[in-house]
Amino acid sequence: MKFSTVLASTFLTVGALASSCHPNYPCCNGCDVYYTDSEGEWGVENNNWCFINNSKCHPSSCKFEALGYSCCSSCGPVIYTDSDGKWGVENNNWCGIPDNCNGTTPRTTTTIRTTTTTTRKNYPSVTPSFFSNGNIYSNGQYQGEVQSSVNKLSGDLQQQASRVKYTPTAVWLAWDGAPGEVGKHLGAAGGNTAVFMMYWIPTRDCNSNASQGGASNLNDYKGYVDNVYNTFRSFSGSRIVVVVEPDTLGNMVTSQSNENCRRTAVIHKEALAYCINKFGSLNNVQVYLDAGHSAWLTGYEDETAALIKEILDMAPQGKIRGFSTNVSNFQPIAKEYAYHARLYDALEKVGVNNMRFIVDTSRNGVDVSEAFAKTKTWCNLVGTGFGERPKGNPDPVNMPLLDAYMWLKPPAESDGSSQGARADPVCARSDSLPGAPEAGSWFHDYFVQLLRNANPKF
Ligand code: BGC
Repeated sequence: MKFSTVLASTFLTVGALASSCHPNYPCCNGCDVYYTDSEGEWGVENNNWCFINNSKCHPSSCKFEALGYSCCSSCGPVIYTDSDGKWGVENNNWCGIPDNCNGTTPRTTTTIRTTTTTTRKNYPSVTPSFFSNGNIYSNGQYQGEVQSSVNKLSGDLQQQASRVKYTPTAVWLAWDGAPGEVGKHLGAAGGNTAVFMMYWIPTRDCNSNASQGGASNLNDYKGYVDNVYNTFRSFSGSRIVVVVEPDTLGNMVTSQSNENCRRTAVIHKEALAYCINKFGSLNNVQVYLDAGHSAWLTGYEDETAALIKEILDMAPQGKIRGFSTNVSNFQPIAKEYAYHARLYDALEKVGVNNMRFIVDTSRNGVDVSEAFAKTKTWCNLVGTGFGERPKGNPDPVNMPLLDAYMWLKPPAESDGSSQGARADPVCARSDSLPGAPEAGSWFHDYFVQLLRNANPKF
């Protein structure tokens, strides 16, 4: 294998283990493909290369062929079941229902991903990001929240906790009065880069309960954007980063079977375009549109890129710097970066060029991606830890498309609760830490979990 992928130099242990998959490498446990070469498909597990297990990941495409039948082109309807499996009828002939059907039409990309990340040595260079030099603003609200936990702890853990306090986090503008707080933050930030999250889109969090809310109509939303915009304009010497509406784009791509999301898709496009058009016209602001995360939108890069193109075309006066990913999620950096590279390519195909990415590293210190893939529990997932500290791209050679690691979700602010007006069933699952308060409120027990599992340690 050639070590020419963008990930290559990150992984040091190579050629360690013969296996049934490869003479020098172990079999991967999972089926995520990071790289393909003349030998076959490669994955990355525990930061080491492994060889994709063909018999597991590419089982004989159709076991019914051995019986003299072809496989059905869709997953149903099932007409008959016997010891050989499930059967359907197509063009008046029996066909076997493929094994990977579970009642719905399979998107092979969700369980068996075959996309690859190959070297792109020469991405055109772009202007520096606002993260590339200087400091990032540490939000006083977060400092206070951490301090409340420091006060409850003792000994070593207390000392570690106090080191979390000044870590930069984004300021979420998640309620109608939030624009009134922007000036205070910019004044306190001075020459440091301040990061704001726009999070008040009408029918916010359309596919879940935990963060439902937002403006009651598009006009109110535009007023909210205008207020923030006017304050940004009056701080013309500031370095401001804006992340536009976490989850909205992702829900437009994958949640359209939910009536709540489908009804508002048109308004959501207009709202995103309005934001971009406004903020993207200011020189002191760099705008990132939120683009979900790798475990959500891998396999949907083309649909995502087409939608982005449509939205950008509706915002002719505004330019975006790129995209945020992994907001409030737990995916490891390598997987996020591989997704960035694929989305970049998909965007290039539709004429959206030179995009850059920031990744939320607030809670991805432990690689819980396998556990997450099984249950998709996004609410205060157990086992997680603080991840890399916010900083401008620390590895431009291997991750040329990355602008920064950033703590976009203030870690230990809750993702949601199983109780109360916005009770969400996902927060009641056994792999969601119990006792959580409402989304956005401080969750001391989660703070302790993140701190104990922090990687790097505090
Ligand atoms: C909540 C917001 C909160 C944000 C940051 C979201 O899940 O809905 O209210 O500001 O997280 O903690």
